Amino acid sequence: MCLNINQNKFVVTAPSNIALVKYWGKRDQQLPINQSVSFTLSNSVTSIDCEYEYSSAGLVLDFIFEGDNGLSSSSSSSSNSNSNFKTRVLKYLESLIPQYSFLNKLKLKIISKNSFPHSAGIASSASFYAALAKVIVLLKERITKQVCNLEDRLIETSYLARLGSGSASRSIYPGVVCWGESNLLKSSNEYATRIVDFHENFRDYADAILIVDDGVKSVSSSTGHQLMSNHPYKLQRIERANARSLALFEVLKSGDVKKFGEIVEAEALELHGLMMSSNPPYILLRPNSLNVIESIKKFREEESIPCCFTMDAGPNVHLLYPNSYHKAVSSFIERELAGKYILSWIEDKVCYEF
Ligand code: DP6
Repeated sequence: MCLNINQNKFVVTAPSNIALVKYWGKRDQQLPINQSVSFTLSNSVTSIDCEYEYSSAGLVLDFIFEGDNGLSSSSSSSSNSNSNFKTRVLKYLESLIPQYSFLNKLKLKIISKNSFPHSAGIASSASFYAALAKVIVLLKERITKQVCNLEDRLIETSYLARLGSGSASRSIYPGVVCWGESNLLKSSNEYATRIVDFHENFRDYADAILIVDDGVKSVSSSTGHQLMSNHPYKLQRIERANARSLALFEVLKSGDVKKFGEIVEAEALELHGLMMSSNPPYILLRPNSLNVIESIKKFREEESIPCCFTMDAGPNVHLLYPNSYHKAVSSFIERELAGKYILSWIEDKVCYEF
């Protein structure tokens, strides 16, 4: 949604997402080597306040991330990482100038805030670049006075978000979203596509993110993607991920929550298996990640609750379940898992306007 504050100022927001089939490995200009599928997490959002004015000195960026502009003289690691983030954002915007030449005539002030804690293990680059893509599309519309139809506007926004961070391409749409070429879905590698045909069983899923470790990861996702280029199982992985996406679409249509859990869990473990079989191999799971997974399996069996787990490239565990079981699941989390979690919902009714 865009709030029109005044002519040269606006605010946009974009949600994060959790991948059910993971984007893992890329080529060329951030094109995925396999299809991925995600749930959009409606209440884990980044909001960007954008202020712009004419600049005769080319593109100038004043970037503030959650109150820190990355220019502080303190040598804290948080200040360094903000400064690195600013450099990445500036590089991204500069790379767009050949296509979006108006950017070269702007001084931009961007203030970015997340609704979720910094260290939650939620992919903040997805919601951030989705929000930044909305900023660029809005700037284009305001400056060139050209507005395209809603469908083209969403495609353009998802395309721009992808260039910033692959998983961000999926955060442009609510509900279930797919990214990566598929003849069946007529989907693309360039931008994500919304999946509208899914069963009502999946319309009110919740995602409790169980925080196992909120420290900085020892190996970044960017390095993980790179290691897929020469991975010994690369070809098998591409085949398996694409087949798994198709199987997941069937299950999402039929409403089979048990099968859904089987597919999603196998995929999460495969992602970590790929890390362990990379060259060099590495492990992002912590002993407690495995304890949490075992507790979830036991809880599911004992209570017959159709919950399942997934993980991104980190140690934290996402517990997915139909919201109707929220009471039982939240008391399980409090009891067994010391209650350190962040709750998000899958939301299908997010407004497209921004
Ligand atoms: C494991 O989208 O963060 O979360 O394109 O380099 O920014 P870049 O990578 P990023 O990778 C996400 C990896 C993942 C799986 C997923 O979200 O699909």
